Amino acid sequence: MIIEPRMRGFICLTAHPKGAEQNVKNQIEYIKSKGPIEGAKKVLVIGASTGFGLASRITSAFGSDAATIGVFFEKPPVEGKTASPGWYNSAAFENEAHTAGLYAKSINGDAFSNEIKRETLDLIKADLGQVDLVIYSLASPVRTNPNTGVTHRSVLKPIGQTFTNKTVDFHTGKVSEVSIAPANDEDIDNTVAVMGGEDWAMWIEALKSENLLADGATTVAYSYIGPSLTEAVYRKGTIGRAKDDLEATAFTITDSLKSIGGKAYVSVNKALVTQASSAIPVIPLYISLLYKIMKEKGIHEGCIEQIQRLFKDRLYIGSEVPVDEKGRIRIDDWEMREDVQAKVAELWMEATTENLSEIGDLAGYRNDFLNLFGFEFSGVDYNAEANEVVEIESIS
Ligand code: NAI
Ligand code: NA
Repeated sequence: MIIEPRMRGFICLTAHPKGAEQNVKNQIEYIKSKGPIEGAKKVLVIGASTGFGLASRITSAFGSDAATIGVFFEKPPVEGKTASPGWYNSAAFENEAHTAGLYAKSINGDAFSNEIKRETLDLIKADLGQVDLVIYSLASPVRTNPNTGVTHRSVLKPIGQTFTNKTVDFHTGKVSEVSIAPANDEDIDNTVAVMGGEDWAMWIEALKSENLLADGATTVAYSYIGPSLTEAVYRKGTIGRAKDDLEATAFTITDSLKSIGGKAYVSVNKALVTQASSAIPVIPLYISLLYKIMKEKGIHEGCIEQIQRLFKDRLYIGSEVPVDEKGRIRIDDWEMREDVQAKVAELWMEATTENLSEIGDLAGYRNDFLNLFGFEFSGVDYNAEANEVVEIESIS
């Protein structure tokens, strides 16, 4: 069939397999062009199908010739209905990895569950013996805690008081004011339960208890800070509490890995267009201004550029990993540069529906959003019939 983007609110209901393949190929080419990285050889990526997790899997495989196991939660295709984008990304990744002679297997299911953890441990045991890097890159609105059976839903709300600021509907370009009522304690607890560090610690504990972590193994989870403009709804809001918890968990995991000389890090990454960030009010306006300025200054990066830099210039430099005063790796350093943030703050005051496509990178935002679903890639013939049913060879 001919596959076109079908939008509903902030999501796209369709995905393009050929475009997803192009996306993966572009990222692989980028990694190859930057040369080898003396990185891990056996890598588990939890949240491996899109965004930073997919970039981490590609960087490991094509930067360091690593064997990778990817865990994700995606919808497979059915006749007449496309898969979710991460499914096609993973199919394309496995294809490319196998062609390059690299081990790559995937597990599709709920990473928060005991069953998927069990399946993953068994696969590592059978095929790899141990892993030396675990990337934790889940982004989810909901988590069922396997021990309590309680299902938690995260919310994106300020804490303490109503937050009012500008936002943009990036589909229409309309700039308006939005007010978000503050969270209650239950909202905060639920958001921490979903996006905090508890599940990351459970994964590492499970791997360690079955001796599946190599000596000196490293684990990395991803966080965000951002500027004062977005602070009320991000870093000082409910999601920020979850990130505080995730960052604190890095220290408890490092303590628990002392016996094998292992270490847990949080890497603070740059704001990027993903399905998750598009749904947060205020953030799309911030990103469209940020993109414009970072592109003008020649320092714009996407997920793959960010993760390449994380691996090459932070994690695998052959000496101690550089961290900030709170022990965090910072690859948001260019986003947070004073000259960049001063300019964003200035444009923020000026932004209106009339001038945003001029002073902000609304076109870049839309392009990146469509790219998430495999649309708008050059080199793909979107008028051609596409087979929506793509298999992943080694998926369980
Ligand atoms: P994403 O939505 O692109 O990727 C999420 C991944 O998690 C996908 O592979 C998805 O299949 C998987 N997943 C979701 N629920 C799952 C479940 N129950 N079981 C198994 N897999 C599941 O998200 P993105 O943006 O790459 O986020 C990854 C991490 O990076 C998050 O912690 C996020 O907060 C962080 N981050 C994101 C930034 C951004 O601007 N997008 C900036 C800095 C950090
Ligand atoms: Na990810």
